[in-house]
Amino acid sequence: MPDSVRINPSILAADFVNMQAELARIAAADFVHVDVMDNHFVPNLTFGPQMVERIQATSPVPLDVHLMISEPERWAPAYAELGAASVTFHLEAATEPLTLARRLREIGARAGVAVKPATSVESLFDMLDGFDQILVMTVEPGFGGQSFMADQMPKLALLRQEARRRGSQVWLQVDGGISESTIAQAAEAGADTFVAGSAVFGAADPAQAIAALRAEASRHHRH
Ligand code: DX5
Ligand code: ZN
Repeated sequence: MPDSVRINPSILAADFVNMQAELARIAAADFVHVDVMDNHFVPNLTFGPQMVERIQATSPVPLDVHLMISEPERWAPAYAELGAASVTFHLEAATEPLTLARRLREIGARAGVAVKPATSVESLFDMLDGFDQILVMTVEPGFGGQSFMADQMPKLALLRQEARRRGSQVWLQVDGGISESTIAQAAEAGADTFVAGSAVFGAADPAQAIAALRAEASRHHRH
């Protein structure tokens, strides 16, 4: 099962003024995770579509865009249009999540929905077919380098159980505090797609860090 797990390094932990070189360091990844923050939905600000378009033009791997922004209906389609492979918006910020997901798919992106730690996942059960990936945050969104919240694992397990029951192929993604010491828990709970910022870009050899995360996740992953 060569592609049963995916490792998506987050460039939030990269050197922003050396982005081209930083992207080259993660050529062995499956996707590059691009955190867009608006200083409104979360108390931090990163970049918008102009920067993401340059990342898209430069990256050796496809883009996995994570929008931590208000009014995703207004802004998310632009990220699909510039060529991002997947666009994930927050359930807490969306007024009509399924309508927005359909729009993203029409443009040609995978549609993702994310939940903050305080948000439960039961309301997503009847919407599984509407999404290509579901992101369970294991930190409060806004900053890299925070501690992994193991108390979010039951949400992943519930989603995995429900996906299995419905025969859904939806990817289950986890983001926040993922490292060689926490990734096994997330894989065992049912995640198949792993975002890691500091664990990859903070490593002396990012390619080796990606390989180690992949090996550990594969060893513990269960569909
Ligand atoms: C947090 C971001 C994450 C962040 C993860 O709001 O969504 O993608 O970059 O960073 P680490 O892996 O350092 O927790
Ligand atoms: Zn993220």
